[in-house]
Amino acid sequence: MKGLFVTFEGAEGSGKSTQIKLLEDYLKKKGKRVLVLREPGSTKFSEDLRRVLLDKRNGFLSEKTELLLYLAARAQLVKEKIIPALKEKKIVLCDRFQDSTLVYQGYGLGLDRKVIELLGGFVSEGARPDLTFLLDIPAQEGLRRAGGASDRIQERPLAYHRRVRNGYLKLGSENPKRIKVIKAKDIQNTQEEIRKLIKEFLLKHL
Ligand code: TMP
Repeated sequence: MKGLFVTFEGAEGSGKSTQIKLLEDYLKKKGKRVLVLREPGSTKFSEDLRRVLLDKRNGFLSEKTELLLYLAARAQLVKEKIIPALKEKKIVLCDRFQDSTLVYQGYGLGLDRKVIELLGGFVSEGARPDLTFLLDIPAQEGLRRAGGASDRIQERPLAYHRRVRNGYLKLGSENPKRIKVIKAKDIQNTQEEIRKLIKEFLLKHL
């Protein structure tokens, strides 16, 4: 299994999907084989789970149910898409992965980090990001950019979103080699920073 597994992380409204699209175009122009995925989602079943997880009418979901559904969506995505693409030596750009679970269900909801690490490892079957871009933005500004409480997670209180942001920054400082923290700025400058970092990474590792 030797493609390149790149993940994008960040709080609500951090601009991940715009940056992923721009990076995909850039890498494809350079002749790279790229697969873009999102979590939860990107398989038929994982997209079904995404709808359940983000539906505001499902506010009754227990914290543990929520955790297990995110992990179930991941288990299916890893098996159906991520492992096969890495075996074909593709570059996989994934919008969120295990770090999201550590911060949203761990720091955010207070679920046990050890349990999340154990179950996350179990469903990921050895697929671990080689490189992660963490797009950092203050919670309130991100929520404003995201356009208000449009899903079950976004409608959580500001204090929850602050825990998520701080959790991310903590993960960033614990894993400085893998996680590149990029402060929110305009689209073009953010993309330039991402391209510079990925070029450096490709030179060293491919
Ligand atoms: P997004 O892809 O539009 O950011 O929406 C996904 C939402 O799901 C976002 O609020 C973060 C949340 N999430 C978790 O809470 N735990 C997870 O493990 C993942 C992958 C996402």
